[in-house]
Amino acid sequence: MALKTVLFLGLILVLTFVCSPATADGPICPVTTKLSRASFPEGFLFGTATAAFQVEGAVNETCRGPSLWDLYCKRYPKKCSNDNGDVAVDFFHRYKEDIQLMKSLNSDAFRMSIAWSRIFPHGRKEKGVSQAGVQFYHDLIDELLRNGIVPFVTVFHWDTPQDLEDEYQGFLSERIVKDFREYADFVFQEYGGKVKNWITFNEPWVFAHAGYDVGKKAPGRCSDYVDKECLDGRSGYEAYLVSHNLLIAHAEAYEAFKNCKQCIGGKVGIAHSPAWFEPHDFNDAQDGASVGRALDFMMGWHLDTTMYGDYPQIMKDIVGHRLPKFTDQQKAKLKNSADFVGLNYYTSTFSNHLEKPDPAKPKFRQDSLITWENKNVDHDSIGSQPLTAALPVYARGFRKILKYIKDKYGNPEIMIMENGYGDVLGAKDSVEVGTADHNRKYYLQRHLLAMHEAICIDKVNVTGYFIWSLLDNFEWQNGYKHRFGLYYIDYKNNLTRYEKESGKYYKEFLSQGVRPSAVKRDEL
Ligand SMILES: *[C@@H]1O[C@H](CO)[C@@H](O)[C@H](O)[C@H]1NC(C)=O
Ligand SMILES: *[C@@H]1O[C@H](CO)[C@@H](O)[C@H](O)[C@H]1NC(C)=O
Ligand SMILES: *[C@@H]1O[C@H](CO)[C@@H](O)[C@H](O)[C@H]1NC(C)=O
Repeated sequence: MALKTVLFLGLILVLTFVCSPATADGPICPVTTKLSRASFPEGFLFGTATAAFQVEGAVNETCRGPSLWDLYCKRYPKKCSNDNGDVAVDFFHRYKEDIQLMKSLNSDAFRMSIAWSRIFPHGRKEKGVSQAGVQFYHDLIDELLRNGIVPFVTVFHWDTPQDLEDEYQGFLSERIVKDFREYADFVFQEYGGKVKNWITFNEPWVFAHAGYDVGKKAPGRCSDYVDKECLDGRSGYEAYLVSHNLLIAHAEAYEAFKNCKQCIGGKVGIAHSPAWFEPHDFNDAQDGASVGRALDFMMGWHLDTTMYGDYPQIMKDIVGHRLPKFTDQQKAKLKNSADFVGLNYYTSTFSNHLEKPDPAKPKFRQDSLITWENKNVDHDSIGSQPLTAALPVYARGFRKILKYIKDKYGNPEIMIMENGYGDVLGAKDSVEVGTADHNRKYYLQRHLLAMHEAICIDKVNVTGYFIWSLLDNFEWQNGYKHRFGLYYIDYKNNLTRYEKESGKYYKEFLSQGVRPSAVKRDEL
């Protein structure tokens, strides 16, 4: 491991890559000698990403009501590792300062989410709308636009209003469908004139799996045979129910968007979050076959459904009666209910086919008839993993999953809604150590290069790329201990922002070439 880390740091990236000539079919890539913005097709958007609960703070301002995560962190302060109170990084008060950081990076776009409980503090319009909350997002969006930054807005990034949890258990109930549509329609009507890029749901796989199958994220539900710390839940059932309601809610929101007059010209998608998988044993045909199954369960679950109107057949075959069924009307609404494929890619793992599932202990991952392995049959790790990295680094998996989506789903438009690298610095954490993030810089270089190859060689239609994240922030059950930012946050000293090496790199990368917003084109 130590040797690997040294090699990893010491590797000098030589950016002499092959550019395929411009052809009529597929993206057109300029030929450059150095990887930069200028190497990507014209109009390609580069940005950074955040989510409301992870950055805003100001939990008691604008009449904001509590959400699922507020209550979860209060109940299980240890699970949130939240020793910083609930200020997050105070983006609510400091967004103007942070927009200047986006500008100084020379970035084109910014992905944010709207906190539902800041708009409808009690989860539903009839119970009151917070005008101050509505105004906050207007101010934020206007400030982005004034600075030439294109807003991408996530409607739901895991923060279900607590009142809906109390009333009917949130996404476990189909009652969420009506309330979600009302909320989504409200934000489309309110902001759709100036926001043209929307994500209904962020990472439905994580929301359903981590929240309702393994109990790792709010609301922390699972069966006791999965984790004894879960107080309630039913693994192998609830995650399917939650995703089912979420997908129907998505289709309703999509319909509301298409009926929204000022939203014309806008796009809506879902941000999926698959890993890439390599076979645990290349010589085992069953491991090879398990890769596609792993992706059908992890991504097809929500992607097939919004493209073709139903779950992948393999899920229906294996999960059986535990997988809810759509009505014909729901299928019709779900079919083609996304304008692009949003993709969050971080890491890859090995897929080992599972011989003997235990039917008495159903759970999502077992249903896919796969175990995830850190090492393959030869005891090799996937890619590389520096000592302080939260996850293994495997840029090749990024290129492969892009090609896989192109081939399997008919060459859709893809936007990378998240890609990034987490540090776990532990006792060594300091401004000096945190800003010298050469591993993150290396990660970004490798992944930008892999994406470039996917676009320019494999001809995948990727049109945007967002780094998670602009700033270090509240990383859910890992609290503030996992840092993902291009800017370091000094939690001990007034949340001061410091540029990291990775931020410097992204700035250089983005400085060579012309920002789309600097080009006069109607569609931008
Ligand atoms: C990529 O997708 C967009 C949106 O559908 C489309 O306008 C564009 O022509 C596509 N580009 C290529 C090279 O296929
Ligand atoms: C927000 O209000 C709740 C309930 O009154 C309180 O417990 C909490 O400390 C407040 N948080 C902040 C950051 O003011
Ligand atoms: C903390 O940071 C904010 C925002 O940059 C600034 O307005 C304020 O003056 C700072 N406070 C102190 C005590 O440095």
